[in-house]
Amino acid sequence: MAQIGKDIVQAMQYLQEDGLVAIPTETVYGLAANAFSANAVAKIFVAKNRPSFNPLITHTHDVEQVKRYVKQMPEVAIQLSKTFWPGPLTLLLPKKDIIPDIVTAGSESVAVRIPNHPLTLELLKKLDFPLAAPSANPFGYISPTRAAHVEEQLGDRIDYILDGGECTVGIESTIVGFEEKQVVIYRLGGASLEAIEEIVGRANISMHPQVEDNLNPQAPGMLKSHYAPKKKVIVGNISNLLNSYDKQDIALISLKDYYPQISDKHQVALSVVGDLNEAAQQLFSALRELDKLPVKYIIAEPMPEYGLGKAINDRLQRAAAEKE
Ligand code: TXA
Ligand code: MG
Repeated sequence: MAQIGKDIVQAMQYLQEDGLVAIPTETVYGLAANAFSANAVAKIFVAKNRPSFNPLITHTHDVEQVKRYVKQMPEVAIQLSKTFWPGPLTLLLPKKDIIPDIVTAGSESVAVRIPNHPLTLELLKKLDFPLAAPSANPFGYISPTRAAHVEEQLGDRIDYILDGGECTVGIESTIVGFEEKQVVIYRLGGASLEAIEEIVGRANISMHPQVEDNLNPQAPGMLKSHYAPKKKVIVGNISNLLNSYDKQDIALISLKDYYPQISDKHQVALSVVGDLNEAAQQLFSALRELDKLPVKYIIAEPMPEYGLGKAINDRLQRAAAEKE
């Protein structure tokens, strides 16, 4: 099993030897390896059971480093980076040869991000290479927001888990690219659409099927085992759904309401004050917790469509789609 701790030097040593280290970020935990080493990066795909056509985000600690990896940054990308980095935003930019093809799955664009977590920023500063890191979950499962989540599922496949506590944002970064002067959002995430549009004006949303590994499995045989313990997720009005299913078969996720018809242990209100940032932070651990219960269904209500509510709804819909 992987060691768990806060030892940056230890983490650094494993990474320098082409090992795998789980790193905390403000969004979710990442499964990191030396992005300059094709050998190290290949191990990520094996550990996650991730198809090799699905590219990885490259993490670093400052914009000067980013400029070493990309051919250019449009003016609007620079503005976004000034506003959101370090933070939950990933930019897709044309890559230089220094980034190995395995990181981008052969694409000419590299996804880059400066994460906002003190331990990981310190680690990145000490390293003389960036870290390629997808979320530290088996392919197709919910992203981890605590060290224990990583240990549970990938503990026997990685060298070290750097424990940075619970992630403060709790859902993955927003992915933004630039196509012929258009700003395109490929994945909704921790940086809200409103906050991005405040900087760039209108952005197009284009959910690229390849930009989310929680989409319908492309290799269902391989993925079945990951989904096997996972309950069917149904998104809708909770009061209606409670009347449609046997109550003991149900666990539920609400934004803030409590439902006396269902046992306490079978329900999570993501934020009793209805704060969508808190709700996003709690979402994945709630799904994991409820997934362990002896129920058949997890029912969840859609969040209001503003702020991080949009990204939460996106994740809920993906979780629901997977089981259909
Ligand atoms: O918040 C996050 O973004 C977390 C933390 C660890 O940084 N990372 C994360 O990585 O969510 P991952 O691999 O689970 O999701 C990143 C998505 C992938 O689905 C991938 O398809 C897309 O970003 N992506 C990465 N590089 C890309 C590229 N060069 N072109 C298009 N899509 C890319
Ligand atoms: Mg992922």
